[in-house]
Amino acid sequence: MKLELRGITKRFGDFTANDRIDLLVEPGTVHALLGENGAGKSTLMNVLFGLYDADEGEVLLDDSPVVFDGPGDAMAAGIGMVHQHFMLVHPFTVAENVMLGHEDVRGPAKLLDLDAARTKVREISDRFNFNVDPDAVIEDLPVGAQQRVEIIKALSRDASILILDEPTAVLTPQETDELLGIVKDLRDAGTSVVLITHKLREVQAVADTITVIRRGKVVGTAEPTASQEELASLMVGRAVSMRVDKTAAQPGETMLTVEGLTVVDDAEIVQLDGVSFEVKAGEILAIAGVQGNGQTELTEALIGVVAADAGSAILDGDVITGKSIKDVLFSGIGFVPEDRTEDGIVASMTIANNLILDVHDQAPYAKGFALQPKAIADEARKHVEQFDVRATSIEQTAGSLSGGNQQKVVLARELSRPLKLLIASNPTRGLDVGSIEFVHKRIVAERDAGAAVIIVSAELDEVVALADRIAVMYHGRIVGIVPPDTDRDTLGLMMAGAHQEEVA
Ligand SMILES: Nc1ncnc2c1ncn2[C@@H]1O[C@H](COP(=O)(O)OP(=O)(O)OP(=O)(O)O)[C@@H](O)[C@H]1O
Ligand SMILES: [Mg+2]
Repeated sequence: MKLELRGITKRFGDFTANDRIDLLVEPGTVHALLGENGAGKSTLMNVLFGLYDADEGEVLLDDSPVVFDGPGDAMAAGIGMVHQHFMLVHPFTVAENVMLGHEDVRGPAKLLDLDAARTKVREISDRFNFNVDPDAVIEDLPVGAQQRVEIIKALSRDASILILDEPTAVLTPQETDELLGIVKDLRDAGTSVVLITHKLREVQAVADTITVIRRGKVVGTAEPTASQEELASLMVGRAVSMRVDKTAAQPGETMLTVEGLTVVDDAEIVQLDGVSFEVKAGEILAIAGVQGNGQTELTEALIGVVAADAGSAILDGDVITGKSIKDVLFSGIGFVPEDRTEDGIVASMTIANNLILDVHDQAPYAKGFALQPKAIADEARKHVEQFDVRATSIEQTAGSLSGGNQQKVVLARELSRPLKLLIASNPTRGLDVGSIEFVHKRIVAERDAGAAVIIVSAELDEVVALADRIAVMYHGRIVGIVPPDTDRDTLGLMMAGAHQEEVA
């Protein structure tokens, strides 16, 4: 189906998120929609999907104007959408969520019963190697799996127009390749696809046409043959360095010592299996590995979200295992969690309050029981400016920020106090290329100021770019710690479980 958006304008109060946007997606093509964090990409797609009413403009399907009163109408018209912020019902199973997605839909695609939904989930999951159990409950699934459920939900409807809003942000590189394969197959079968992503490699791999928006307006189009540098500068309006400039590390004293750290989950499965390593002050240790090999449990055990079943962690001479999360953080740890919407921000609170989340009861933000609004606002404005958080005001709720800007709020908070240790899981997830450049610089600056840094990242490029040493995890263990100039094949083999000695 041919999709056309004409002159779409969407305002939130005085703020214009979409300003007379035109977009044309021909049938059987992949149209990449690019733009920096807060540019208005998700807003535009939410208008198309019937979640928001446009203030101006129209949507045309095969040259006929359509008006959607809600996602049900959009779905009935053949549009499927994978949302950046998942629309899953947490206490329900995967199959139930997939079934729910069909309920307000008339027509042949409707899934009537749970068994049919289960079969459908299994079928799509098998076809694309998604490894999703139809009976798993959403709230028990890690973010990567939740993302795959959203994709299954959208694919289960055989949509003729498929909107993918950052579908690969939390996927592993392997899963990403599978998904890009699916996108190509769907396109070849005639589906029109709108793909939003910050990963320019993906754009180059699958896009037929590219539109770039900035601050709510279309600023240009590009050919799929455009280089990453060209796309990046079109997006952010300046040249962006795709490399991390850093000098050799000057490691100091050992800051963190981890000894035999072990975590056994509720099902008696060993998730973290006797992990030992050290990180020195002034050094970045990157943890590489396919998601789900103990990285989450490692960071959570370090900061006290889960209790260690054995082993210890010592920060600058103090045992931190066994302490409360708050005490651990106050001992000088900054923490960027894997799932920002669940653990990083409080969506209903303002940006200003999110920026002082852990310290709201302390000077200068509080005197006795009284909050000090001016001190809070001053601090918030400083962070918002430094980290270029695109918001209408510091009183905007964090939940209404664009995805990348939510991540910037978490980073601004965690990187702005004196740190002995920074633990960051996928710190640049969802950020645009310009913001990635900035955040990488900030992380290196923390290192150079003497902090020990642990980066967990599913992006091998990021691991290699930032790391002074790389620890590779597999099945809850560290299979080796290697220098950053280790070749990719060796890292790949280690990520598949080969030990350092075996591949050396
Ligand atoms: N409900 C809302 N109320 C107020 N402002 C909003 C609301 N939703 C979005 N905005 C603002 O509209 C702008 C565009 O947001 P949008 O989510 O479309 O950005 P995006 O291009 O998808 O960015 P990202 O790459 O970070 O996901 C942002 O500045 C955001 O703060
Ligand atoms: Mg978005």
